[in-house]
Amino acid sequence: MDNLNAQYWQQRYRDGYTGWDIGHISGAMRHIIDQLPEEAKDLQILVPGGGNGYEVAYLWSKGFKNVWLLDWALAPLEEFQNRYPDFPPSQLIHLDFFALTGEYDLILEQTFFCALNPDKRKDYVRKMNSLLSMEGILRGVLFQVPMFPDRPPFGGSVEEYRTLFGEIFEVVYFQDCAYSEPARLGTEVEFKVRRKK
Ligand SMILES: C[S@@+](CC[C@H](N)C(=O)[O-])C[C@H]1O[C@@H](n2cnc3c(N)ncnc32)[C@H](O)[C@@H]1O
Repeated sequence: MDNLNAQYWQQRYRDGYTGWDIGHISGAMRHIIDQLPEEAKDLQILVPGGGNGYEVAYLWSKGFKNVWLLDWALAPLEEFQNRYPDFPPSQLIHLDFFALTGEYDLILEQTFFCALNPDKRKDYVRKMNSLLSMEGILRGVLFQVPMFPDRPPFGGSVEEYRTLFGEIFEVVYFQDCAYSEPARLGTEVEFKVRRKK
């Protein structure tokens, strides 16, 4: 699956071939964001592989100002800027996630991990770890069913994820996601991991 490059994803946005895009913030992500305490408003928050960035828009509307949307497809970032002209362009990062440097307190995951070739999973975990501040947390949802063997979304299992993330992170929890969209109900696990001290 060497073809899963920036051009591939850009073309999918151009063609409107975006089955993953539900057109609004998902119940799962809304639930996670709604749990953030008031003092989290100053956190540096990253949403990588965030596409149309519904979580970023939601965070922004709630007063989280240090929030970054990263994607290597330009189309959704341009679309986001058109929808939210007041959003700082410097917080829209058009880049390969694996080339990003910086430090974030919270990184949110939704349908980015499953879009990557599975042979990138260890790199993903290492990169996430390197992007987090000492108290940093990675939260989000992952598919906990096999999905497709040869094209995204690529699935997996909680057992696999516990091993994968547990090698580098302190696992806080992996639990069945109670707030999934109807079409994804039963297929997602909500997770929270933090940097090891
Ligand atoms: C399945 S889409 C999910 C988009 C968004 N998270 C959502 O839920 O609607 C996967 C996204 O990851 C982006 N992506 C894949 N690999 C990437 C990489 N190495 N660096 C940056 N973005 C990447 C794609 O361009 C695409 O927007």
